Amino acid sequence: MHPILITGGYGFVGRHLQQAMLQKKLNFIATARNLPAITDPQLKYLDFCDKKSLDLFFEKYHPSAIIHCGAISKPDECEQQKELAVQVNVKAVQDLLGYAAKCRSHFIFLSTDFVFDGTTNMQREDAVPNPVNYYGYTKLLAETLVKEYPFTWSIVRTILVYGNPLGGRHNLVSLTQQKLQNAEIFRVVNDQHRTPTFIGDLVNAILTILEKNANGIFHICGNEMMSPWQMALQTADYLQLNKSLIQPISSLLLAEAAARPKISGFSIGKAKHILDYQPTSFKDGLRFSFTPTT
Ligand SMILES: NC(=O)c1ccc[n+]([C@@H]2O[C@H](COP(=O)([O-])OP(=O)(O)OC[C@H]3O[C@@H](n4cnc5c(N)ncnc54)[C@H](OP(=O)(O)O)[C@@H]3O)[C@@H](O)[C@H]2O)c1
Repeated sequence: MHPILITGGYGFVGRHLQQAMLQKKLNFIATARNLPAITDPQLKYLDFCDKKSLDLFFEKYHPSAIIHCGAISKPDECEQQKELAVQVNVKAVQDLLGYAAKCRSHFIFLSTDFVFDGTTNMQREDAVPNPVNYYGYTKLLAETLVKEYPFTWSIVRTILVYGNPLGGRHNLVSLTQQKLQNAEIFRVVNDQHRTPTFIGDLVNAILTILEKNANGIFHICGNEMMSPWQMALQTADYLQLNKSLIQPISSLLLAEAAARPKISGFSIGKAKHILDYQPTSFKDGLRFSFTPTT
């Protein structure tokens, strides 16, 4: 059996996928372009924007499935570096699909609620996308390419993922912990609303998609709508930290480079039906996020 390839293996989602796949004893290779000083045997070098690197990798490993987590995932970075965003988030997906087709691999693409404009809530998988920023635009272009893939493909759209960063980059709940523990003021947007996703739920959904060979688009998120400010407050409550340091701010005052949808939440009926998906409550998600892993 050929291995499963994870790109972006050292990103937030990639680290959790690695952990879960190790536990399940799955045959996989996680890849990154910046390898840590101490590497695990399942972690290999791959720059998916470099054809030579892709040639060598696919010739050697012939992956049975590809979970493409690698991306420029920060909306402001995409807005400020549009050419690079297209290279990494679109052109590289086109190239990867070409390599994947030669191996007839199952192609799983991680996408985002930011393909929608945030004017309607509880979007289904067949809702019409309309991105309001360049990040969402590049992800939508990539989705269009994935949908043309002649073998099994899956698009997993998710929303504001949170959990233990496993030593990698911060997410909203881990950043809240860090800021409050350092007694820093933390300004958090209170005029946008999301249904945040517990990282364990996302990873389980991806692994079920893999197991069931499930084709198509899947919406994966939590089922509680809240603002990032409310998320930070609940995190402070859970950790019993000083929540008076958390200050609400409007997105207009924050003036980020990329516009954000005002409201985004998915209808998750399809995932419940096909993947037996059951989202974790935010309260439990916090508990799991801050419980030390063994
Ligand atoms: N986290 C969320 O809340 C969220 C929400 C919706 C959708 N998503 C999507 O889910 C996926 C995973 O997200 P994430 O949070 O794990 O993102 P992340 O932590 O930013 O990880 C992305 C990884 O991609 C790597 N990468 C970028 N260009 C590369 C290249 N040319 N070759 C090899 N690796 C490269 C990055 O490596 P470097 O560090 O070396 O740049 C980074 O480790 C992304 O597609 C994202 O758009 C995430």
